[in-house]
Amino acid sequence: MYEHGRGASGRSSSPLNHAGRYVCLSRSSHGPRAISRNARHRAGLARPHVYRYDDAAAILADQRRFSSDFARLNPEHADLMEGNIVAMDPPRHDQLRGLVSKAFTPRTIAGLSERIAALTAELIDQLPSSREMELIGDLAYPLPVIVMAELLGIPASDRTQFKVWADALFNRSEADRFARTNIDAARSEINNFHDYLREHVGDRRRRPRQDLITDLVAAEIDGQRLRDAEIVGFATILLLAGHITTTLLLGNTILCLDEHPQAQSALRSAPEQIPAALEEVLRVRSPVPFTARVTTTSVRVGDGDASIESGQLVYVWLQSANLDERRFVAPDRFAIDRHPNPHLAFGKGIHFCLGAPLARLESRIALAILLRRFSAIHIRPNQTLETHTLFNGVRSLHLELT
Ligand code: HEM
Repeated sequence: MYEHGRGASGRSSSPLNHAGRYVCLSRSSHGPRAISRNARHRAGLARPHVYRYDDAAAILADQRRFSSDFARLNPEHADLMEGNIVAMDPPRHDQLRGLVSKAFTPRTIAGLSERIAALTAELIDQLPSSREMELIGDLAYPLPVIVMAELLGIPASDRTQFKVWADALFNRSEADRFARTNIDAARSEINNFHDYLREHVGDRRRRPRQDLITDLVAAEIDGQRLRDAEIVGFATILLLAGHITTTLLLGNTILCLDEHPQAQSALRSAPEQIPAALEEVLRVRSPVPFTARVTTTSVRVGDGDASIESGQLVYVWLQSANLDERRFVAPDRFAIDRHPNPHLAFGKGIHFCLGAPLARLESRIALAILLRRFSAIHIRPNQTLETHTLFNGVRSLHLELT
């Protein structure tokens, strides 16, 4: 948590330049290894952590030695991971991903543009006042959830319930989503979520519709239908991965534009720069600050002497890699025209974010509409910004609009 206020100069202070910063990564003269002690503690200091860009990229590209099969660490919870492609290795990963990848290509996703624009306009029109909004609850949360629910074919009106389940999964005080204690605590909520989705899967078996759940029900791999548990797990990851992260990206974008008012005016007069600006937001405020892999053999990472034994959980800090001065010129500078910008915010390799085209499209459209509708967007001063423990972003963000 940190206080958002305005200093004597009237300029807003922000998490990145604030002494009590909340961002998971603090880059300082120590370089990108300087993950804040807080965040390291949260993620479990006893584990190996990887911070450099080249090391992180190499690990993500090497699924043979760095597995995503976390079930091997928590075999008693393996059933909960069924269908969760982010926690799967080839060949099953590639087969399942292949089933839905067509639904998420930039070309297919582009077909959703009108719907996303209409929803954004609708959500803004519903605001009780045109002079203020709470960005997360009013727009950044409902927009991606409604889009994802519509793609899956489940009622978007149940979104308050999705939030309860998502919060149970992601709001743990011990900020390690790979920790066994977290999975234990979240188990009953995950079960409820799965029961809810299982009903929809059963319904589509009886009454097929035109939606992703029906596609998964009808899909076959080598002549075999997917099991219900796999479809439910897959739908869970799409719905959860598909909304929390995009919500954070929109919040982070406004934090960056409030901190850099010149960037806000530049984008207002040149909206064609919005896509590049969003990539820069993803780099400096990566919604998913870290991911992890399990070693399948004893390995050495980068130029370090120490080897990591087989079967170890290794934390890969995407946020740190994205601020590595060996990879990015002036990494602390928020440069909306940075090019190239090979950030790792969406991961890399076979697990590269399936929803990246959708997240990009939603955030581009929402930001363009916000900038068009309002001639100035500021973060309301003196509000306490509560941050997520596992992810990089704020839970609510009150804005003043002109
Ligand atoms: C700004 C928004 C988003 C960010 C920053 C983000 C980030 C990521 C990252 C870092 C990974 C790789 C994890 C790893 O390698 O361990 C990933 C994978 C994934 N993301 Fe996203 N994501 C976003 C939006 C979305 C959306 C909208 C969807 C909805 C479809 C989605 C679905 C997925 C899925 C299914 C995977 C697993 C892919 C695989 O294992 O093959 N994400 N995401």
